[in-house]
Amino acid sequence: MTRKIIIDTDPGQDDAVAILLALASPELEVLGLTCVAGNVPLALTAHNARLVCELAGRPETRVFAGCDRPLQRPLVTAEYVHGKTGLDGITLPAPAMTLQDQHAADFIIETLRAEPAGAVTLCPLGPLTNIATALQRAPDIAPRIAEIVLMGGAYFEVGNVTPTAEFNIYVDPQAAEIVFKSGVPLVVMPLDATHKVLTTRARIEAFRALGTQVGHAVASWTDFFERHDMAKYGSQGAPLHDPCVIAYLIRPDLFEGRHINVEIETGSELTLGMTVADWWRVTDRPANAMFMGGVDAEGFYTLLTDRLGRL
Ligand code: RIB
Ligand code: CA
Repeated sequence: MTRKIIIDTDPGQDDAVAILLALASPELEVLGLTCVAGNVPLALTAHNARLVCELAGRPETRVFAGCDRPLQRPLVTAEYVHGKTGLDGITLPAPAMTLQDQHAADFIIETLRAEPAGAVTLCPLGPLTNIATALQRAPDIAPRIAEIVLMGGAYFEVGNVTPTAEFNIYVDPQAAEIVFKSGVPLVVMPLDATHKVLTTRARIEAFRALGTQVGHAVASWTDFFERHDMAKYGSQGAPLHDPCVIAYLIRPDLFEGRHINVEIETGSELTLGMTVADWWRVTDRPANAMFMGGVDAEGFYTLLTDRLGRL
């Protein structure tokens, strides 16, 4: 039984690896990719998503452009991490495949209304603007969503773009608040988990050793992508954030976390975009999210490298 998913994304090298993992995995049926402004502006994320589909040999994948800015905040991008193209590290041919005409939010709404209730999982890998827009335009879709499995937030790891906020949540905290208050079952893959799956020389060489164009591209992207985090944290590599979402869908046993209350700071400029995770359950606020904290990093990289080798 394959699982139907929509990946909402702002490629970004780690998004690209997540998309490749999804397209390589028979357990998943990717109904479409919806693109959002985040790591780089929308025109580039929509370009990059199609480039990745063609790299995977899947030009029939439907790709939709969505929101080009957050609901209320000005757009903040991350070229300092991902480079000017958003996929720096290797130059790949521009995609021939075209964008779908429909707005990403309308595709999400139409798909959730057309598929049986509980059949579709949403997998946001960037700011939550498209997801929140769909929920605002069509509140009836909320009970039809099986789960939202997203990369975002942080508790013990605190922030990566401000001292208290993770990038995806920080870019559009109002959208995140809508999603976290939607009542839809949430699985949150925060920095607490993703900072435990660091690229290392051996892991990057394993990508290159695949001897394929995909392996070469992923090795080149991760080589580029890790520079920022290594300089900032002095770590031996960078966290492959977004593929954790897809790996969870395939092998949830690789991850561990707690079902807790998580709310979003939207009022304070100082802590804007913080995921206030009640990890120790010190409040009586209702649990609304499975918040991940641990991951089997070796198991993750074994799964990822094996699946990439199939493309
Ligand atoms: O903070 C990490 C997240 O921000 C990842 O999804 C990365 O792609 C960027 O979108
Ligand atoms: Ca992303």
